[in-house]
Parts: sequence; structure tokens; C-alpha cells
Amino acid sequence: MTDTTALLPMRTGEIRIHDAEGFEGMRKAGRLVAECLDMLVGEVKPGVTTRHLDDLVREFVLDHGAQSATIGYRGYRHASCISVNHVICHGIPGGKPLKEGDIANIDVTCILDGWHGDHSRMYAVGEVKRKAERLMDVTYEAMMAGINAVKPGARFGDIGGAISEIAHLNRMSVVEDFCGHGLGRLFHDEPNVVHSSAYGTGPELKPGMFFTVEPMLNIGRKDAAILPDGWTAVTRDRQLSAQFEHSIGVTETGFEIFTQSPKGLHTPHTVKQ
Ligand code: MF3
Ligand code: CO
Ligand code: CO
Repeated sequence: MTDTTALLPMRTGEIRIHDAEGFEGMRKAGRLVAECLDMLVGEVKPGVTTRHLDDLVREFVLDHGAQSATIGYRGYRHASCISVNHVICHGIPGGKPLKEGDIANIDVTCILDGWHGDHSRMYAVGEVKRKAERLMDVTYEAMMAGINAVKPGARFGDIGGAISEIAHLNRMSVVEDFCGHGLGRLFHDEPNVVHSSAYGTGPELKPGMFFTVEPMLNIGRKDAAILPDGWTAVTRDRQLSAQFEHSIGVTETGFEIFTQSPKGLHTPHTVKQ
């Protein structure tokens, strides 16, 4: 009997430094998951169930020689998390159809040749209200501001500092109960990437570190609650929440985004044109 877990590195408590082979692996895994989210763009519309979208994700991942990282993860049974409106994250796909005006985050993690690509975007279902549009735009801007702070010698706190600054300037709040994370051959590795941290704090960023930046912003208060299903995280005040996620690597001069959309469909905005 083969113990496959023996092939995986252990969590050491240290932040792993990867080499060129790691970058190559992450590029392929990241690209696949970005292509998967590109594929969904024409499929997210009123009347479609999130279960159907999850079926499309599962088939896409398997058809491309990859595995879903979430099926079987801590008892989770789906290839995606789909978080609609006031759901912050970890929404479970199901039989409820999407309706005009909804906003949805779709988060997919695949494993390709042992490397994890973890990526999420917001989708607008038909025409959405200005308030929802603004929340999505600000959340994307906050994620990119966090990523743009990444370079050797900067600190992890600079990422959360930049994210919080954008959120607060726009009178929105940053969810503190969920973080980004190191990833690579492991799905969730060191460190926790905190989205509400302060400039100049936390560990130093070094070339070869791989992690996600995945801020969740709320229109109302930052507080979260978990529904009785044990997964679904919602805003306590039931106001809208949005999230974007990229998997990135620290390079000698800055960062590389592994999950860039090949078609440039990274926000609902760019989709509409
Ligand atoms: N993809 C999520 C993340 O960004 C994790 C989902 S775990 C699941 O880390 F089990 F809920 F799918
Ligand atoms: Co993640
Ligand atoms: Co994710």
C-alpha cells in the first residue's frame, strides 16, 4: 500500500522557498484554474443553479488532467465554493437558481502535477445594482493593491495594509475571520496572509515564496457567522460581501500572478466591456 501523504512535504512552521521548478508547476496549475473561471463567464446567468456551475467546474478540471483540491478536503464534497450576495466565502453549490441582480464569487482550487492553483472571481448575474458593482470594483482594487505591495524586503503586513487602506477609503470593511495562505504542493501552508494587517509588520517577503491574496470586503460590518451546515460563512448583518483571489509568487524584483485570466476576463467589468 502506498502512503501518498509521505510524498507531500510537511508543514514546518517556516515559510517555504520554492525554486524554478516550483514556478513552472504553479504557472501551469494557475493557468488551468484561470481558464476554468474564464469558461464560466458565459454560464453565470439568471436561472442557472450553482450545482450546475459546480458540475461544469468538476468536468473542466478532470478533462484537463487535473484534480479538484476541495473534493474530500475536510469533508467538503464540491469542486468549487460559490458564495452569493451576503455569503462571504465557502458557499456550498446547490439547487437554488441564481437570479437577476445577484453577485457571486466562484472559488476553484485544482491540483495539476502536484501543484495547487487557487483562484476566485466575482460574477454579476445580469444587471446588478450600482452598490454591488462598486463593492466588486473596490474589492478587486484592494486585492491588486495588496499584490502590488509584494516585493523582496517588504513585509506581509504591507499586503494587508494596502488592502485595508483601499477598503476604508471607500467605507467598506475587511473580513478578519479568513486569511490568504501559503500554497504550492500543499493547499494550505505557512503563512496566514492577513488582509487587515498593518504596514511594516509580519514576516519579510523573500523570492520563492508562494501564497494567495484573497481579501473579502463587506459593505456593512466585518463580522461573520457560520451557518449550521458548518461551511457557509455569511455577514452577520446580511449585507453584501465580495472576494477576489489570486495565487502569486515572489520574484527577485516583485511578484508573478499565476492565476491571470488568459482572456482578460478578471472582473465583471472587463466581461461586460
Ligand atoms: N479555495 C478556498 C481558499 O481560498 C478553500 C476552500 S476549502 C473548501 O482557500 F473546502 F471549502 F472548499
Ligand atoms: Co485560497
Ligand atoms: Co480559493
